[in-house]
Amino acid sequence: MSETPNAQADSAPEGDSPIFSAQKSGQSSEYKPRVAAFLCNWCSYTASDLAGTARIHYSPNVRIIRVMCSGRVDPTFVLKSFALGADGVLIAGCHPGDCHYIDQNYKTMRRYTMLRYFVEQMGIEPDRLRLVWASAAEGQYLADSITGFVEDLKKLGPLNWKANWEENGERAKALEDIVHEHAEAMEVQP
Ligand code: FES
Repeated sequence: MSETPNAQADSAPEGDSPIFSAQKSGQSSEYKPRVAAFLCNWCSYTASDLAGTARIHYSPNVRIIRVMCSGRVDPTFVLKSFALGADGVLIAGCHPGDCHYIDQNYKTMRRYTMLRYFVEQMGIEPDRLRLVWASAAEGQYLADSITGFVEDLKKLGPLNWKANWEENGERAKALEDIVHEHAEAMEVQP
């Protein structure tokens, strides 16, 4: 399996961050939400690979981070993504009952419910967080889910949290570093 999924709607403009095709102020009037997407290795990441192989397009500005299971998405990953400037965070995993680690995605469901409540207390709209179940065969569904999420984020507008992306380009790099920081636990070689 390739290290990074092939599915990317539009290639990032030259010179942009490898994390997101980051919109720079004044570059375009169109708002492109930045999304951190944590995909389970066994189902959803494979679905994104399938989408790429099938040349199914989905919205750009999505930084895919592969984890071994949706249950491995520590709540701090989500909070850190927002702190680093993501406008939305998507978690995708195997359908309930299909988790390769038995019942870890049920834990994901519980965390998701808790996190939606928690981020709201922090002034972040809970709809900036989304959970999707996508099997390895559901490349089209995953692509549609990502695009739908991005469209919903456009309606919400930029998060504009204090830690804004444009303030420091290194923040984008820091998001990518999540993978490196937790590589051992994630069992994924970055
Ligand atoms: S292995 Fe995919 S959600 Fe657990």
